[in-house]
Amino acid sequence: MSLFISFEGGEGSGKSTQAETLHKRLVDEHYQSLLLHEPGSTPLGRHMRDLLKGRPWGGETISHGAELFMFTAARAELVAKVIKPLMRQQRGIIIADRYADSTIAYQGYGRRMPIEELVTVNHLATQGVLPDLTFLLDCAPEEGLKRVGELQTVLPLEIADEALGGRVDREGTTRFEEESIDFHERIRVGYLKLAEQEPERFRIIDAAKSIEKIAEQIWSIVSEKLPGPSDAGPPELKLEFPA
Ligand SMILES: Nc1ncnc2c1ncn2[C@@H]1O[C@H](COP(=O)(O)OP(=O)(O)OP(=O)(O)O)[C@@H](O)[C@H]1O
Ligand SMILES: [Mg+2]
Repeated sequence: MSLFISFEGGEGSGKSTQAETLHKRLVDEHYQSLLLHEPGSTPLGRHMRDLLKGRPWGGETISHGAELFMFTAARAELVAKVIKPLMRQQRGIIIADRYADSTIAYQGYGRRMPIEELVTVNHLATQGVLPDLTFLLDCAPEEGLKRVGELQTVLPLEIADEALGGRVDREGTTRFEEESIDFHERIRVGYLKLAEQEPERFRIIDAAKSIEKIAEQIWSIVSEKLPGPSDAGPPELKLEFPA
């Protein structure tokens, strides 16, 4: 059997913390678990992450369209090279720190790209592979941004935008943390709409609670879906590519 679990939510909502905690707990309990990050977890995905974060061509911004296809290129690679082969083998638990819902929330609700068309792009990238379970870590954007230490840079940026007479290219901000609070609010609303549309797949988690409380809540949901630990094979699924 295989189980595919994704973690979604805004900046600093605790996705990586909870994805890692769940992965460790599964390994401790002798389940085969593989933790994946988006973009990343394949050689191409890691290049995409470096390009998106570092802009090695000299800091020039990325257009919204290019950003969309860079994220979805990394996802297509991850699905084709890692997720689908594992699912075919019916092995283990796959945990994704962000997946396709991020595109709808960030590029759709955040960047205001047409959602219907993003759904099609996502479908091409994922080959229709959706998680069995998606944890939406929901909290006020201010809380998440405070946790990752970006709140101070967010608010003044809007003012800086005005001070520059609109010369800051709104296509241009490629670090999501640098976007306005309004952008992050739209993402939160978008995620909640997605969860409402697919209540079977989504579990909305109050991300303002303590790390331990959230981890317990997640474990109680996941453990219900688990079969007995596998006797065969190593406790941790190894990626074909070095991390
Ligand atoms: N429930 C929580 N309460 C308080 N602090 C938390 C909680 N969850 C995570 N944190 C802390 O907030 C910071 C961001 O957490 P984490 O990296 O897990 O978030 P994330 O959603 O993965 O962020 P990003 O969007 O940047 O990837 C970390 O310092 C983490 O220890
Ligand atoms: Mg993270």
